[in-house]
Amino acid sequence: MCGIVGAVAQRNITPILVEGLKRLEYRGYDSCGVALHVNGKLERSRSTSRVADLEKQLAEVGLDGFTGIAHTRWATHGAPASHNAHPHFSPNSDNARIALVHNGIIENHDELRAELTALGYVFQSQTDTEVIAHLVDHMYQGDLFDTVQQAVKRLHGAYAIAVFCREEPHRVVAARQGSPLIVGLGQGENFVASDAMALAGTTDQIIYLEEGDVVDLQLGRTWIVDVNGRPAERAVKTVHAHTGAAELGPYRHYMQKEIFEQPRVIGDTLEGVTGVMPELFGDGAYQVFKQIDKVLILACGTSYYSGLTAKYWIESIAKVPVNVEIASEYRYRDSVPDPKTLVVTISQSGETADTLAALKHARSLGMEHTLTICNVATSAMVRECKLAYITRAGVEVGVASTKAFTTQLAALFLLTLTLAQVNGRLTDEEESNHLKAMRHLPSAITAVLALEPQIIAWADDFARKENALFLGRGMHYPIALEGALKLKEISYIHAEAYPAGELKHGPLALVTEEMPVVTIAPNDTLIEKLKSNMQEVRARGGQLYVFADADSRITSGDGVHVIRMPENYGQLSPILHVVSLQLLAYHSALARGTDVDKPRNLAKSVTVE
Ligand code: AGP
Repeated sequence: MCGIVGAVAQRNITPILVEGLKRLEYRGYDSCGVALHVNGKLERSRSTSRVADLEKQLAEVGLDGFTGIAHTRWATHGAPASHNAHPHFSPNSDNARIALVHNGIIENHDELRAELTALGYVFQSQTDTEVIAHLVDHMYQGDLFDTVQQAVKRLHGAYAIAVFCREEPHRVVAARQGSPLIVGLGQGENFVASDAMALAGTTDQIIYLEEGDVVDLQLGRTWIVDVNGRPAERAVKTVHAHTGAAELGPYRHYMQKEIFEQPRVIGDTLEGVTGVMPELFGDGAYQVFKQIDKVLILACGTSYYSGLTAKYWIESIAKVPVNVEIASEYRYRDSVPDPKTLVVTISQSGETADTLAALKHARSLGMEHTLTICNVATSAMVRECKLAYITRAGVEVGVASTKAFTTQLAALFLLTLTLAQVNGRLTDEEESNHLKAMRHLPSAITAVLALEPQIIAWADDFARKENALFLGRGMHYPIALEGALKLKEISYIHAEAYPAGELKHGPLALVTEEMPVVTIAPNDTLIEKLKSNMQEVRARGGQLYVFADADSRITSGDGVHVIRMPENYGQLSPILHVVSLQLLAYHSALARGTDVDKPRNLAKSVTVE
């Protein structure tokens, strides 16, 4: 989702801004732009294409400067078009005084637009952002820092903004409320960006701005005030941010590469786990786990499905009641808080606006025991939670989450064992057996990846379909949900998942010979019931595509296609089964020729509501 980079320096910053945008590309965007202070004027270049094209455009016109801002936009208000791309200028492009970029959503933009229009401002875009540019211009009285502090008081909603002004050539002012923003400190130069990764290679001295902060960046100084306008001291951290995506190597897409990285990253995530120890989740974790008597999991999308899987594990092994909530719902609904709850947020990016807001909401209700399972150690989520387990999936570039999901599951299984141990429900023998199974996961996943040729053969059939059903039971129901999400996200095939027992309560009406029904069939206690559900499908002509455990005695036949999973993996079976569904989605999308790593309309990091 939208990315911001800004700089004030004594050298040409165009390459720094462009490199920063490239590092933010993984978040997803549909247009991009750069604005610079050039010979007493504001100049900009915008594109609805890739950052690489913007870079060429900038080189063609020779746009260089010492002060400027840049942006990748993921459209919310107004189509992905050049005139809606940031930076936005005010009063207008010919004699612009203010240039501004924004991430977030301004909820009172209509009201402000009417007010500014009445004052004579002419709007050139449909964005809520242009409203802020004109507001800053309208309020400007010679001091940009002062103006921005006053202007943000008029904004309702979420924002991270970076602004500069024609009349103050060595200054960039930035502010945040509800959207991420960091400051990077250099030698006689300073930067602002959506995350530390954008500045990797430029500076590793990072300040994480807090909610309501406004920062004044000049050549040799930065000055921060808090939400009340009081000077604020913020810690400077040395951050060794990932330098972005590695090379694709032999893979065609990052998603494929990331699917195949799973054995390694699960190994990395569990590295150093020599036993079940609460401290793995942070200092003081034992005391927290001892005090709580229920778990509330908050997450979105794929991360929500890992939470749903964890509910099955935690309730069955640790016997602790678990509630899993979609963050965007939880944050607004009336719920019954209990301070003896462990609030667990799950997030790949650690910047998802809904999950951060849900966490804040839970805390405001008096639930202070917070833990995050997160893939980005420097993210807002990790900073906001008391306890954390950092998954080590590495940078995930593909918008469709794969390795982040399975590493989350590995971490959540470890949490399950830890809660069980703290509650006296884990014998030494059980602990050792579970740990053995976890250590064997990388080779078990490698065996599933070897099924790729068989899955490719199925994908050719799927590529011609417009609908698919996914069935699972028990802890494999969330895996069916994740399989359906993967397929629809990247192949645009409409897919729905159901617990298999629910089929006859409605969705069976959809089943015809045209409907592929993907069935997850582990050899567990529900296998005979699942076989009956499969009969219900076959009786209506539905085509079954079954991922069956080696020992589940389901064989291929008329309308029944079976791929045998290498082994029955007991409680950890969801981690194996989801890998085969990721491959099915990937190859179906490949066969349909979609943009696998950047599916339409989606962003990697959803930093707006
Ligand atoms: C998954 O493939 C998604 N693109 C999406 O559902 C994602 O999991 C969701 O937006 C949550 O993101 P997070 O894990 O970074 O919080």
